Amino acid sequence: MSVIQSVMETIAKALPDKKEDPLIARKGYVGQPYDRVDAQVKVQGEARFTAEFKVENMAYAVPVYSTIAKGKLRRINSGPAEEAPGVLAVLTHQNLPRMKAPPIADFHDIGKGFALSDLPIMQNVDVHWDGEPVAIVVAETLERAEHAAFLVSVEYDVDSPEVSFEDAKARAFAPKDIVGEPPEIKIGDANKAFAEAAVSVGHVYRTPRYNHNAIEPHATIAVWDDRGGVAVFDATQSVNLTAHTLAYIFDLKVENVRVVAPFLGGGFGGKIGWSNTALCVAAAKAVNRPVKLVLSREGTFRMIGGRTMSEQHVTLGARKDGRLTALIHTGLTATIPSGRYAEQCTFPPRHLYAAPDFYVGQKIVYLDTVANTWMRAPGESIGTFALESAMDELAHELRMDPIELRRINEPEKDPTKGTEFSSRHLTEAYRSGAEKFGWYARNPAPRSQQDGKWLVGQGVATAYYPFLRFPAKARVRICADGSAIVQAPASEMGMGTATAQIQHAADRLGLPLHRVTFQYGDSSLPDTPMMAGGSNQTATTFAAVRAAVEQVHRELLKLAQKRSDSPLKGARYEEVEAHDGGLFRSGDMARGETYSAILQKAGQASAEAETSSSPPMEMMKYSMASYGAQFCEVRVHEETGEVRVSRWLGSFDCGTIVNPKTAASQLRGGIVMGIGMALTEETLFDERRGRIMNPSLAEYHIPVNLDVPRIEIIYTGIPDEHAPLGARGIGEIGITGVAAAIANAVFHATGKRIRELPITLDKLL
Ligand code: MOS
Repeated sequence: MSVIQSVMETIAKALPDKKEDPLIARKGYVGQPYDRVDAQVKVQGEARFTAEFKVENMAYAVPVYSTIAKGKLRRINSGPAEEAPGVLAVLTHQNLPRMKAPPIADFHDIGKGFALSDLPIMQNVDVHWDGEPVAIVVAETLERAEHAAFLVSVEYDVDSPEVSFEDAKARAFAPKDIVGEPPEIKIGDANKAFAEAAVSVGHVYRTPRYNHNAIEPHATIAVWDDRGGVAVFDATQSVNLTAHTLAYIFDLKVENVRVVAPFLGGGFGGKIGWSNTALCVAAAKAVNRPVKLVLSREGTFRMIGGRTMSEQHVTLGARKDGRLTALIHTGLTATIPSGRYAEQCTFPPRHLYAAPDFYVGQKIVYLDTVANTWMRAPGESIGTFALESAMDELAHELRMDPIELRRINEPEKDPTKGTEFSSRHLTEAYRSGAEKFGWYARNPAPRSQQDGKWLVGQGVATAYYPFLRFPAKARVRICADGSAIVQAPASEMGMGTATAQIQHAADRLGLPLHRVTFQYGDSSLPDTPMMAGGSNQTATTFAAVRAAVEQVHRELLKLAQKRSDSPLKGARYEEVEAHDGGLFRSGDMARGETYSAILQKAGQASAEAETSSSPPMEMMKYSMASYGAQFCEVRVHEETGEVRVSRWLGSFDCGTIVNPKTAASQLRGGIVMGIGMALTEETLFDERRGRIMNPSLAEYHIPVNLDVPRIEIIYTGIPDEHAPLGARGIGEIGITGVAAAIANAVFHATGKRIRELPITLDKLL
């Protein structure tokens, strides 16, 4: 633990609880299943996504990717491409504008930018991975650029890359920290406890590489102005962090960089920090024209990394009654020498079960590949596959119901952090889920249920994702016509951010839903390191908006009290509340004034406040996370080994559910992505040369409609009084526990335990 962190923790523990939020208990727009505010423009095709913006005189860029994993460029033959019709430029390390190496993501100082590696972008002859861009062709049309890109030929001096995970294991090491936490935790003597345990299991679980495949590919349009500033349309999960990254790379003042992203067609962690954006900006500078760069699907596989592979060893010891005595979970993941992201697969065991003795440790290896990155519930999705499979194996050894095993090992405090839980109702999520799913109707014996040729099984697993919040700014303007504008540079990747924010702001301001506008997706809004990542955005924005609303309310109250005839005269801020479009004395609905009346009588068109939320001390003081129980039924064909998921129920404990309609979609989306992870997705990788072999949706199989059953979602809905508005994150937890629930159901159906994802039919024959 860093010194700063331990000081923060000490302060957090000493802090009194912050005052309660009265809105948590009030019934308003929050909690209602409203349609998305952008639903109409989306279904009508009027929502403008990055690649769809039209800019005059725009040129098109297409990258050329390295076909070796390590070495040097000897020669780039760009002549034929330069002579091809419509080509404006063939850019290489020799003629691309000079750029500083990108600022690598650092959790303690994300404000300066956010890149996945600090490798220079096309600035020298060094090649670091198969797929690294080595040239970029700019032409009058996309077709001409694509054609010319084929005409570029590259000669290399080839080095031998480190691309085999197996070989690299010999050089595995523990990183200094893993996303700010120690890579190793030891409590008691877990090996001894395991050796003495009455019942035990211990196995190795493996997960493959996975690639990001948002429906919308990565896209950028860069437009330089004649004063040396640049405006960028970019499909990014953080307009501000992208603006700061570009300012750093191009040595500009951040005020001279504007990044805009009104809608994204999915992000999942894959749309932030990649060099495609900087490349497009550099190309536009080089040709002195607006340039558009949209990665092809293959391009996203070459340039945009996904989830690292992992090898995890889980060892559990228990008494005969099922109480855990030892929990050992070790993991190995891969990253790149110029990166910093060791996917935290060993985090779930730190928080889920009471055990007296723990050993949790993670090591990494370096590979010469594209940087790995955040991919929906990074760490927790693959970590829960190992841990929750192991819990199922232990339940089987104990002849105990797997839900009961989890119930009796439910901790009272965070088992490794030692802090209280802010709110945790996982047992209730299991109880209500089991009832709704009909869990206890199953015959618990493996391979005991059959329907014709189909072996039928049911499985459960715990879903878990930590709570995150960042300090952030927001601006709120209340206008004399009784409307309000709320601004924060959030990203709308399709999850319903704008809708949830309007619901919250309308309740907070006491205004009708339709009188509130939420402006987001533009770095010219209050500059704050906001991002749609780590499932933090809703909580982060709520806290910032709450702070801004509080300030604007204080100002309006002062304004009203300048008049002796105001019904608010003499009232302290604590004695008023917002409803019916204005401020009123608490307990006296009639004594107050509307915003319109206050502003009009003061002769003001609007009142505005921009302010920052407090640092997230609650994360230090408490163990905070969203929880859930995944229930599924699978049918495995006796002869072909084909696995079909036939039923799903997710029972979640994520605090207040701001909008049950958009939330259910988020959670379903996570589960669908988890079904892909469990059964069909896998990045095939040539371990001799380091090349991805299936860079297309024809060969990289994401689930399609027929792979997904109806997914039922239920919630405990119990507000977490330490989270803004009682709401914890829901963006990522959906995928966690999914692969384990499927593996557990497959075991129940067939009696075969598959410990390596994806669970393809060859493994079941
Ligand atoms: Mo999420 S993987 O932090 O966008």
